[in-house]
Amino acid sequence: MKLPLLLLFITNLCATLGLSIGSKQSRFLVGGIQSGELPYQVSLQDATEDYDYGIGTGHFCSGAVISLRTVLTAAHCLVETSVFPPYIRSPSNINVVMGITNLYIPTSVTIGFSVSAFVYNTDFNTFNYNNDIAMLLINGEIPMGDFAIYPISMPTSSIPVNSSCTVSGWGATYQNGPNTQYLMSSTVPIVSSESCSQAYNESLPSGVICAGYFTQPAIPVDSCQGDSGGPLVFNNTLYGIVSWGEGCGVQGFPGIYTDVLYFQNWINATNNTLWNKASHFHMVNVCFVFLPIFFSMFIMNY
Ligand SMILES: *[C@@H]1O[C@H](CO)[C@@H](O)[C@H](O)[C@H]1NC(C)=O
Ligand SMILES: *[C@@H]1O[C@H](CO)[C@@H](O)[C@H](O)[C@H]1NC(C)=O
Ligand SMILES: *[C@@H]1O[C@H](CO)[C@@H](O)[C@H](O)[C@H]1NC(C)=O
Ligand SMILES: *[C@@H]1O[C@H](CO)[C@@H](O)[C@H](O)[C@H]1NC(C)=O
Ligand SMILES: *[C@@H]1O[C@H](CO)[C@@H](O)[C@H](O)[C@H]1NC(C)=O
Repeated sequence: MKLPLLLLFITNLCATLGLSIGSKQSRFLVGGIQSGELPYQVSLQDATEDYDYGIGTGHFCSGAVISLRTVLTAAHCLVETSVFPPYIRSPSNINVVMGITNLYIPTSVTIGFSVSAFVYNTDFNTFNYNNDIAMLLINGEIPMGDFAIYPISMPTSSIPVNSSCTVSGWGATYQNGPNTQYLMSSTVPIVSSESCSQAYNESLPSGVICAGYFTQPAIPVDSCQGDSGGPLVFNNTLYGIVSWGEGCGVQGFPGIYTDVLYFQNWINATNNTLWNKASHFHMVNVCFVFLPIFFSMFIMNY
């Protein structure tokens, strides 16, 4: 990743001084099984890395399609908290890849979009990851009736404890491991906020839900770094966004997910804002296409 030199300098300085920047660990998937294509699942990719090292190499987070033009993800995917001051990605350097299973091999159902704009929650806290939610506006529209890519439903009521959810992504399958080539998914049960607070020995903020196991099965199951921003789904409904946790698949620590229901008003308002912006972009594009034609006619006639 290309960072301004100053930021690199500050990071190095902090590392030298033994300061840790950003207190939460972002996540990838541990103990999942290979998944087929999931119609709402997207890979967010760094366009520069994709260009330099090949398609798929720039994968940094996941997201979920919530309308034909908008994608929901975690704020910490767009605001890089491992450097200080936090580095905010540029929308023009993000590719949103949909309809993909093997990260490195697009198929006939794969569609990639650039990003016109994004909005992250202004209350996002880069130290404790509170309000870890963001939305992207893609530069184009998913074809209506696409069988491989379509929006996931939003929740209208809270999810019961123990509901068996699906979490998916291309994240590492073990802590500090590389991304996986294939989309993986795991089944994790919803954990009550009381049990989750007990596990972490801290009161969790509002706006998060927990899912995972206290006593890990023989093969640990959890989300891990690189699955960040990815969907936690139950009954074909998006209940959570992969946010953070203690390590990956660490005994006794369920994963923490942004609570989609809690942010439903923010989601609705931001979705409206971005769609309005989209119609504005559309008009701008129309102007760019038609004005030169108009002027060339003008010049030819006179
Ligand atoms: C959830 O499952 C656990 C373990 O099976 C059980 O002990 C607990 O009572 C369940 N909780 C609810 C609310 O169903
Ligand atoms: C839990 O947190 C409290 C207050 O911060 C602290 O006093 C206690 O030692 C912690 N317990 C464990 C097991 O870490
Ligand atoms: C699953 O979703 C359907 C339709 O969206 C709804 O009618 C049903 O109540 C949901 N089931 C559960 C267990 O939430
Ligand atoms: C977002 O806005 C579009 C266009 O108005 C609408 O079709 C879609 O249902 C909205 N989605 C959400 C999740 O608010
Ligand atoms: C979402 O926004 C639309 C348009 O502003 C509004 O009509 C609708 O009631 C809102 N829905 C919710 C669930 O807030």
